Amino acid sequence: MTVGLLFISCVAMSTLFLSMALYVAMAIFLGGMGWRIYRWIRTPVPLKIVLTPGPQKFPGVLRRLVGELFGFRALAKADRSLWTPAWLFHVSLLLLFLGHLGGLVIPHLAQTTLGLNEKQFEDMAQVVGSAVGLLAITMLVWLLIRRLLLPRVRWISTFSDYFALVLLLLIIATGNAMRFMGGLNIIQAQRFVAGWWTLHPVAPPRDPIFAVHLLLVCALLIYIPFSKMVHIGGAALFSPTLNQRNNPRQQRYVNTWEKNNGNSTASS
Ligand code: HEM
Repeated sequence: MTVGLLFISCVAMSTLFLSMALYVAMAIFLGGMGWRIYRWIRTPVPLKIVLTPGPQKFPGVLRRLVGELFGFRALAKADRSLWTPAWLFHVSLLLLFLGHLGGLVIPHLAQTTLGLNEKQFEDMAQVVGSAVGLLAITMLVWLLIRRLLLPRVRWISTFSDYFALVLLLLIIATGNAMRFMGGLNIIQAQRFVAGWWTLHPVAPPRDPIFAVHLLLVCALLIYIPFSKMVHIGGAALFSPTLNQRNNPRQQRYVNTWEKNNGNSTASS
C-alpha cells in the first residue's frame, strides 16, 4: 500500500504527468458540462409547472433564482438542520475557489488589488486559508455523519452519495495537510499553475501530498459531469419549476414544441 502510494507520487511528480492529467481531466469536465447544459437547454418544457406560490413577473423570477442559487431558499424553509451545513459547505467551496485563484493563479494581481505587501498577503492567506479549510472539512464531516446517523437519510443513500463526500473529504484533507504541515514550496506551486494555464507546463513541487491533492482533483473533475455534482452547472437556472412565471391565467402557455413550429403567442 505504502509502496504503491510512493510509486504513484513519483510518477505524478515527473514533469509532464500531472499537467497532462489535469489537461485531460479539464477537457472531460468542460466537454461533459457543455454537453449536459446543452441537453438541459434543449429539453422541451411542454407544461407550465411552476412551483407555487410563484412570481408572476420577470423580476420576481430573478429574485427567486438568486435566492435559490445564493441562499438555498427552498432548503432553508424545508430543513434548517440540513441547510446550515450545506450552505456553509458551499460558501467554503466558493471561498476556496477564490483563495486558489488569488493565491495560485493570479497572486500578484490579487496582492496589488488588496493593497498588501508580500508578507501581509502571505499572512492573510495563512489565516483565511486555514479558517476556510477547517470550515470546509467540518461541514463535510457533519454532512457525512448526518447521512450515516439519520435512518431515513441512510435508507435513501447510494454508493455515489458516499463516493462524492469521501472524494471531497480527501481533497480537502490533503489541501489542509499542505496548509498546516507547511512543507510545500508555494512558489513552485504557483510556477506549476502558471505554466499549466499558459500551456507551458513545468515540473510540479516535489511534494507527494501536492501530487495526491491534484490527482484527486482530476478524479473530481472527471466525475462531476456524470454525477449529481453536475448541479454546479447552474441546474436551478434551467429548472422549469423555478424559472417560469406563474401567469397561466393572464397568458396562455404554449408548449415548446408549438413554439418551435413558429407560434408567436408563447409565454414563459
Ligand atoms: C487544480 C486544482 C487545484 C490545485 C492546483 C490546488 C493546489 C493547492 C495548493 C498548492 C494548496 C496549498 C496552499 C498553501 O498551503 O498555501 C491547496 C490547499 C487547499 N486546497 Fe487545493 N488545489 C486545487 C483544487 C482544489 C479543490 C477542487 C479543492 C476542494 C474541493 C481544494 C481544497 C483545498 C483546501 C481545503 C486547501 C487548504 C486551505 C487553503 O490553503 O486554501 N483544492 N491546494
